[in-house]
Parts: sequence; structure tokens; C-alpha cells
Amino acid sequence: MPLTPVLTARWDADQPWTIETYESLDGYQALPKALKSTPDELIELVKASNLRGRGGAGFPTGLKWSFVPQGSEGPGAKPKYLVVNADEGEPGTCRDLPLMMRDPHALIEGCIISSYAIRANFCAIYVRGEAIHAIRRVRHAVREAYAKGYLGKDILGSGFDLDIVVHAGGGAYICGEETALLESLEGRRGQPRLKPPFPAVAGLYASPTVVNNVGTIASVPGIVLGGADWYKKMGPEKCPGTSIYSLSGRVKNPGQYEAPMGTTLRELLEMAGGIRDGHTLKFWTPGGSSTPCFTDEHLDVPLDFDSVAAAGSMNGTSAVMIFDDSDSNVTATRKWVEFYAHESCGKCTPCREGNYWLVQILERVEKGAATEAEIDQILDITESIGGRSFCALADGSVGCVQASIKHFRDEYLEHIRSGGVDEVDEGEQTAEKAMSAPGVR
Ligand SMILES: Cc1cc2nc3c(=O)[nH]c(=O)nc-3n(C[C@H](O)[C@H](O)[C@H](O)COP(=O)(O)O)c2cc1C
Ligand code: SF4
Repeated sequence: MPLTPVLTARWDADQPWTIETYESLDGYQALPKALKSTPDELIELVKASNLRGRGGAGFPTGLKWSFVPQGSEGPGAKPKYLVVNADEGEPGTCRDLPLMMRDPHALIEGCIISSYAIRANFCAIYVRGEAIHAIRRVRHAVREAYAKGYLGKDILGSGFDLDIVVHAGGGAYICGEETALLESLEGRRGQPRLKPPFPAVAGLYASPTVVNNVGTIASVPGIVLGGADWYKKMGPEKCPGTSIYSLSGRVKNPGQYEAPMGTTLRELLEMAGGIRDGHTLKFWTPGGSSTPCFTDEHLDVPLDFDSVAAAGSMNGTSAVMIFDDSDSNVTATRKWVEFYAHESCGKCTPCREGNYWLVQILERVEKGAATEAEIDQILDITESIGGRSFCALADGSVGCVQASIKHFRDEYLEHIRSGGVDEVDEGEQTAEKAMSAPGVR
């Protein structure tokens, strides 16, 4: 499968973030075309393209848009909102920030078309708070778009008005969960809301809101220009288009590789020069740390939402973290769970307490201080967390631990029998440090 630059097509241009470069490379060509269609026609187009959300769950985008109550315009009607999720906090994930840095106008053009389709006149782009550089870049691009008449009142003489605000996120992984994001955007602590009602019915300020990932929205101008059939030619029919696969870890040339959905790790490794010399692939994540890890047995699994699920994991954010025979799966898992323990928002007990205890036992395994029975205790704890917590943060943590023991139980036993490592990696967050963070307990 070849590299297929669609979302990344402009990334190597000279100063691709400026509006002049964007316009010279097909930018803002989809917008006038979209504004000539009706909102309903655009929703049908996106439905027909089978675009699936790139935020992790792969939910069909056109279907999500169609959940926004239609035909409720007029005096007294609730406003509708588009919220772009640019929080990007999942370990290993790094494609939304590069997209916003290299090609912010692709996102902005996508926001204008998508807002028009769902009949929203206000759009918020919620960018990860620590990413000041990306916040500045997108804010600058928004200013450029206003100056050229692509934003504001009566866009391109169409009668459609849209304002975009770029909001600096709250600085917590949980703020990427869509309802916690909405809480944070409204000025409260970022903690998930009970669903239903889903945001499409009652989201920002209790009004109908579509929350979509950066990659999802940035895909929309291409679909408007190229059509649904063009889009469906790339990747599997039910999960088409391209994905920006972020390769990191023990690979010779880490980076962003845009290829059709359904590309395999074997093919991605060929593009990236393979595993570093003298080593072999041991385990990898198909889509970030919350997606159960795969091993070298899974090199030929097509990396799209349906095929990865059928193989026992999740496509997630296409964040492919690669580990070789020099890496300990127990250590990687312990570090990931420390992340979840630290980032647990504390709202519900199984996640808040369970992740804390998982870290304690994983540290004991790593140090060789645990007993074999504690491996099953770990699994017991995961059973008490998974499906019994308020949001999917907890399921991500559980999935990564269960896959670790499924594929690498022998390594757990080896750690226990050999006395493990003397000290856990002190350069990293320890459970004590994680639990002393404000608001954790
Ligand atoms: C703990 C947690 C963190 C999340 N972080 C992000 C994120 O940073 N960016 C994102 O787009 N989706 C994130 N999601 C998924 C969102 O809740 C939501 O499904 C997504 O923004 C929908 O966009 P899409 O339909 O375009 O995929 C996260 C979910 C959870 C449970
Ligand atoms: S599962 Fe964890 S992150 Fe989600 S609401 Fe409960 S405590 Fe918060």
C-alpha cells in the first residue's frame, strides 16, 4: 500500500500554514461548492462517503450530524454548535497537532462547511492547553480567514454567518472525552457527563452540539471536492479514506505516514525502514496506549476500525507505538497504567481506586516482589473496573492490562521468579507521585 497524501498533501509546501499557500493549493475551493448545496445535501454526502470519526471510536460522521434535531429553526429555537476536539492527550498520539501546525486552514475550511451542514453559527476549537504553539497557529489562521471573508457575517455572500473561537484546553487527558470537554468549555472542571442525553441533543450549553476530531473535520473539504465515490476508493468500503498513522518507538524512521485505512503494520514498517538494526518486533499498539497491544502475530491485520476490532483491539487514533525485544511489556504497561491513575478524574470509585491498586501491584511485579497469585488479582481488579466505570478512560486502562497479561504472562512470571528489576524507572511518574497529584484522592 503506498503513501497516500490527502490530509498531509500540503505539509511539505513552503509555509503551508499561511492562507496564501492554502489558497494556491486548492484551499477554500470546497467552501463555495458546499455553500451552493443545502445543509441536508451535505449531511447526505458525508453519510455516503462513509467517513468514520478519527477521534478513536470510528463513529460514522454523517450519522452523528443527522442526530442534530433538524427543522427547528426560527425564533426561540436552540442554537446549534460545532466543537472540534483537538485535545489530543492519548499517549503515542501525535497527528492532530502536526495537522494544525502545518495545515490549519484545512481544519478551518472543514469547520465552516461542517457548521453550515449542521446549521451552527458558532464553532469552538478546543486545543490541548499545553500546546501553546498550536493554539497560536490556529488563532492566527482564524484571523486570516476572517480578514478574507471566509468567517464572520454573510460568508462569500451566502447569507451564512459563522464565528470560530480557539479555546485553550484544561490540561488534562480526560478533557478529551467529549462531555468532559464540554464541561471544561463551559468553565467547569473537566469531568464526564452522564449519557444520554448525547451532545447531539444536549451538548454545549444544553444545546445540540456535534463534537468531532480534528482529522474528521479536516477530511470534509476533500470529500466535498472529490465526492463520496472518490473517498470510498481509498481503504475498505465501510471504513474508507486515509489515516495518518503515527509511528513511534523502535522504528528506524518514526513519523507520520498517511496511507489508506486498512494498511497493515508490515506495510507501515516497510515505509518506515523497519525495526532498528539487530532487534525484532515484540509488541505494538494499533491506536494509542488504551488500545490492547498486539504482537508480531498481528503484522498483517488491516488497520481500520472493523478489522482491528475483529482481531481483539481497537484502531483508536492510529498511534502505532512500536516496541522491540529489548523492551519489557510489564514496564510499558506499568507506565501506561500510571498515566491512567494520574489522569483519572476521580469521579467514580472503580477507576479512581482500581487504577491506583493496579499500579501498586504492577510495580511489585516489576520489582519481583509479587506472588504469582497477584497476576490473577490484577485481572480481578480489571474486571471490577472495566464496564463498571463512568467513562471510557477506565476501559482503556483495563484493555491495556488485560492484553499485556494475555500475551506476556510468561514475562510476568519471569519478573516474579527472577526477582525483577531493583528499582522501577525513577525518571518516570511513580504511583506515589501520581496519587499525590491535586484532586486525585
Ligand atoms: C479519556 C478519553 C479521552 C479522549 N480524548 C480525545 C481526544 O483527545 N481527541 C478526540 O478527538 N477524541 C478523544 N476522545 C473521544 C471523544 O470522546 C469523542 O468520541 C470524539 O471526539 C468524537 O469525534 P469523532 O466522531 O470525530 O471521532 C477521548 C475519549 C476518552 C474516553
Ligand atoms: S472512569 Fe475515571 S476518568 Fe472516567 S469519570 Fe470515572 S473516574 Fe473519571
